Amino acid sequence: MNENGYDPHGQFPEMPEVKRRYTPEEAGHDTRRKPVSRIRRRRRKSLNPGVLLICLILAAVIGVSLYLIISGKNRTALPQETSGVSAGETTEPLESVDDGRDWYTVTVSEAQIYVGDLILVNASTEYRFPAEAENSITAVSSLKNGYYLLADPDAKLEPKVIESFNKLCSDYYAYSGFAYMQVNSAYRSRDDQISIYNQYTESYGADYAKAYVANPGFSEHHTGLAMDLNINRNGAISYVESDEGAAWFRENAGNYGFILRYPSDKVYMTGINYESWHYRYVGTPHSLIMNDMNMCLEEYERFLKDYTYDTTRIAYNNATGVEYVPAEEDADGRTLIYYAPSEGEETEIKIPKGYTYELSGNNTDGFIITANPDA
Ligand code: DAL
Ligand code: ZN
Repeated sequence: MNENGYDPHGQFPEMPEVKRRYTPEEAGHDTRRKPVSRIRRRRRKSLNPGVLLICLILAAVIGVSLYLIISGKNRTALPQETSGVSAGETTEPLESVDDGRDWYTVTVSEAQIYVGDLILVNASTEYRFPAEAENSITAVSSLKNGYYLLADPDAKLEPKVIESFNKLCSDYYAYSGFAYMQVNSAYRSRDDQISIYNQYTESYGADYAKAYVANPGFSEHHTGLAMDLNINRNGAISYVESDEGAAWFRENAGNYGFILRYPSDKVYMTGINYESWHYRYVGTPHSLIMNDMNMCLEEYERFLKDYTYDTTRIAYNNATGVEYVPAEEDADGRTLIYYAPSEGEETEIKIPKGYTYELSGNNTDGFIITANPDA
């Protein structure tokens, strides 16, 4: 234990006393639904002239037919060759106008619900240890740059987390010459979590362990997407939240896809006491939206479920932030769409043409598409 009260050999620093769970009101949380900040009203692109012509012909045919029926004249009196459209052909162009959305389809399997940057892992949502996800977890030392430190030289994370953290720390260094950020705890196996849980129960008691350590199988540390950070200035260890030199880091982590996972005002939702050291990778623009809207991951997963192919989508641009795009309109910028799984093993997911996509499950019951416009 050093003079800052930090135990560099433990997983957690000395904690304030365990707090009871807050109600939403006590925590100052606004439980009302967030107002929709901007609803896009931009018109879709103008109609194809060919489709328009067919619609006009169709309208003329229907009008003449009605006239003939009403006036009691024989239908065969309608000169077919002048209408150019038979009854069986009329619906197709109308349908394509009605659903004239330029999308392509990909098929995803049910197993993909349980992997990806946005999976929610908490006390009620167990991590499933999917083999394909665990296989990619990599030694940080094999990919890291020189702008941060590892408390454990064998620490492991998902490669994309290491890459984003490299960029965050190299930009941080370029901004302020700071290279003291330290990864104190990263990926943990179920056995690692069991031993930490037991250690904290023995040392500090069951309530304390419960408030700060997830049950084995329910920890984000299993995913390789989360890490505990501290600051190591030549052996003097301190918290990220209390080091003045770390202000840039705290303010900018979201630009690189990281969120502070257990904020003090969300304890009643996360089920974990405030942890100023635990950062989770969710990727951008999710980290930015969560920060802008003051949502923890539990809230964000619920929020996303309202934005689907058939209803409204979310578009995100760095300059303008979140916009809500009605289904019948085109979106500009990175676009978020939630899909519920279909019955059976496979689900068809639609992606706007001209966009690549990233897919993540939510670890419960759906998929989130982050569609990125082609460069
Ligand atoms: N400290 C976090 C909650 C964990 O043990 O996963
Ligand atoms: Zn942690």
